[in-house]
Amino acid sequence: MQRYDIFLTCPPGLEPVLADEALATGFMTPRCIKGGVTFQGGWPHIWRANLELRCATRVLVRLASFQAKQLSQLERHARGVDWAAFLPPACSVAVEASCRKSRIYHSGAAQERVELALQDALGCRISAAPTVTIKLRIDHDICTLSLDTSGEALYMRGHKQAVGKAPIRETLAAAFLRLAGYRGQVPLLDPMCGSGTFVIEAAELAAGLSPGRARHFAFEALPNHDASALPRNTNTPDGPPLCFGSDRNAGAINASQANAERAGVAALTEFHQRSIADIVPPTSQPGLVMVNPPYGGRIGDKRQLFALYGALGKVLAQRFAGWRLAMVTSEPGLAKATSLPLLEPSAAIDHGGLPVRLYQTDQL
Ligand SMILES: C[S@@+](CC[C@H](N)C(=O)[O-])C[C@H]1O[C@@H](n2cnc3c(N)ncnc32)[C@H](O)[C@@H]1O
Repeated sequence: MQRYDIFLTCPPGLEPVLADEALATGFMTPRCIKGGVTFQGGWPHIWRANLELRCATRVLVRLASFQAKQLSQLERHARGVDWAAFLPPACSVAVEASCRKSRIYHSGAAQERVELALQDALGCRISAAPTVTIKLRIDHDICTLSLDTSGEALYMRGHKQAVGKAPIRETLAAAFLRLAGYRGQVPLLDPMCGSGTFVIEAAELAAGLSPGRARHFAFEALPNHDASALPRNTNTPDGPPLCFGSDRNAGAINASQANAERAGVAALTEFHQRSIADIVPPTSQPGLVMVNPPYGGRIGDKRQLFALYGALGKVLAQRFAGWRLAMVTSEPGLAKATSLPLLEPSAAIDHGGLPVRLYQTDQL
């Protein structure tokens, strides 16, 4: 089997979690580098990475890496790539270029050179809505050409239409669940569930469903794709519910329910319109409270936020004996306002430009 350098991209800070997930999924010797994780594998690994990894944003395949200080050198190397081994003839493509600290500094001009090579090699059409995207990164005069095998970013699981305020991306939600040690075996409650991201990700984990089962990927249009080699588990699991969400906002509850239906996990989930002061353990078996409360900047006002975190801490301390808390926030002061015995927080992970951390407790 031909092996390639595979690059899984992710938000900064998430690399170790993604490497851990890649290893657990059976990909050998994943290595963290800035902005992602690399490992070596063949096409079946690439397909499976797209379908099964919850924490990766995209799966890229390295096509070539070379030094070029002039556009003519870049074009010569780009023409030397065996494009036909990767792309179907006459397909529609887009080239996305970025330049950093390099003699070639004009990304638009660099992009054009690669486009020319693709047009001449395969008769490709350049399109804004392409079948395949080629990424060109130029860093310190080293050019790296990669093929994006994902297409739409992998946090687009294919079933979320309804979103509430400040939703967390599925990939990030999955990473925080992983950091919290959640594997779908105990009950989970998100008492500020918004559009239901944590609850749905958790229910999918409990049901053993692959995150990409309901979506398409760019690799499906590539010449070597073998659909039979990648069975998709589209079972609709039965209850009883294990993953619960509540929110004070009725629109959020409607959105969560609709998203859970579309994801096929409605039987494993339950949502209630409820303010934080009114939450109670949804099951007698203790589990995990996983929550991403509002934090400054995006929604809410600071003083109210301190009161909200205080109320969350009080309710959990009074009613959730035996449960663990895992809470995502950008503000150490707000985390502290829960007055709960918090463990050392996780490293910061980028959430739309804002560094957020996971704060956890042992069993309360
Ligand atoms: C940052 S959003 C959560 C987003 C969610 N993780 C998602 O992916 O869509 C915070 C949520 O907290 C809810 N919320 C704010 N104050 C609340 C309260 N006192 N009780 C219950 N929910 C509250 C908001 O309605 C909002 O949906």
